[in-house]
Amino acid sequence: MPEKIVLAYSGGLDTTVAIPWLIETYGYDVIACTIDVGNEKDFTAVRERALAAGASKVFVRDGKEDFIRYFAFPALAAGAVYQRHYPLATALSRPLMAKLLVDVAEEVGASAVAHGCTGKGNDQVRFDVGVRSLGPKLKIVAPMREWKMSREDEIAYAEERNLSIGSVTRANPYSTDENLWGRSIEAGVLEDPWNEPPEDIYSWTRSVADAPDEPATITIGFRQGMPVSIDGKEMDGETLVRHLNELSGLHGIGRIDMVEDRLVGIKSREIYESPAAVTLLAAHEALEQMTLSKPQLRLKERIAQEYADLIYNGLWFTAHHQDMAAYVRSTQRYVTGEVRVRLHKGTPTPVGRKAEHSLYSYALATYDRGDQFDQGSAPGFIDLWGLPVRVQAEAQLLTEPGSPLRITAAEE
Ligand code: ARG
Repeated sequence: MPEKIVLAYSGGLDTTVAIPWLIETYGYDVIACTIDVGNEKDFTAVRERALAAGASKVFVRDGKEDFIRYFAFPALAAGAVYQRHYPLATALSRPLMAKLLVDVAEEVGASAVAHGCTGKGNDQVRFDVGVRSLGPKLKIVAPMREWKMSREDEIAYAEERNLSIGSVTRANPYSTDENLWGRSIEAGVLEDPWNEPPEDIYSWTRSVADAPDEPATITIGFRQGMPVSIDGKEMDGETLVRHLNELSGLHGIGRIDMVEDRLVGIKSREIYESPAAVTLLAAHEALEQMTLSKPQLRLKERIAQEYADLIYNGLWFTAHHQDMAAYVRSTQRYVTGEVRVRLHKGTPTPVGRKAEHSLYSYALATYDRGDQFDQGSAPGFIDLWGLPVRVQAEAQLLTEPGSPLRITAAEE
């Protein structure tokens, strides 16, 4: 009996060609596993294509709910955004896929798993490291890292074997990946960072020029850092995210054009569409401003960066991640409330916020009547706050020739 291998199958050219390649090169019994993370595919066609290419079995796993609940929303609560712009849609889906691949491998008694990542990207790292931590005994095969085929070679290889590769594959000059949290687009003319992205690469967002002149204003409800409602209507995560992708996308929100640093050391030009993620990140931040203290906000910002790097770098299934997740969860205890967000011409702007356990106190902040802040205690506070500054200025800075304090004074 040939050994079994479970292939993460997208239905595209690369993974379709990988099926006969795995059979012919290594003699594997190939089991295709397609994971639905909201990537809107015709899964019946995908299934048939895998079988026609020689897979002995096809699994289609619905990962949407888990993706939102255990990956996208916790990343939102953490404020995880890579290099200040990328909400990590692709990166977040990989550990879930690795998990489901390992599950299927266990179910069917496979000794190996395979994926269609190239040797130049981040995704290979995320798959490989994820599989290594969850199924350390499994062998990992990445056909695209091994075969020396160009795209044309792959098409010829597919044609020789009469594989249906779909007309789209041939026409689309870009490499795209999508799930509920966002869409990633790379390659083709985008490889020249000076080229403005052609309008037709976008499929979830309108251009700002074509976005409606009238803004839309919505209210997003959060419970302990997790989005739970829109305009007072409770909904499950998938429905909420889909709704926001649609509405924010219509208003031109969520287009990202950046040059990012891959883990393998390459700088690459990436385009993203993440309308829901960008809107939710803005709303969530506005609610945290109301509910977290200054030092909590400050430390959390640092953790957010570390968290984003960890997700980007494929280290999801680690103790380091568990520790940071525990910290983030703890910070979200009081992040419950509502944020009113105006969606307009490419920008989600929080315009109102309220929280049950808000730290904002009108009585303390107001300049109107009803002010409860004791301004009489301010001078005493400032005396102590400024005490070490005064002592040091007198003892050292004012006595130094060329002291910056003196230069400023002399110039006046
Ligand atoms: N650069 C992004 C990342 O590493 C997106 C990768 C997109 N993958 C793709 N097959 N187009 O997360």
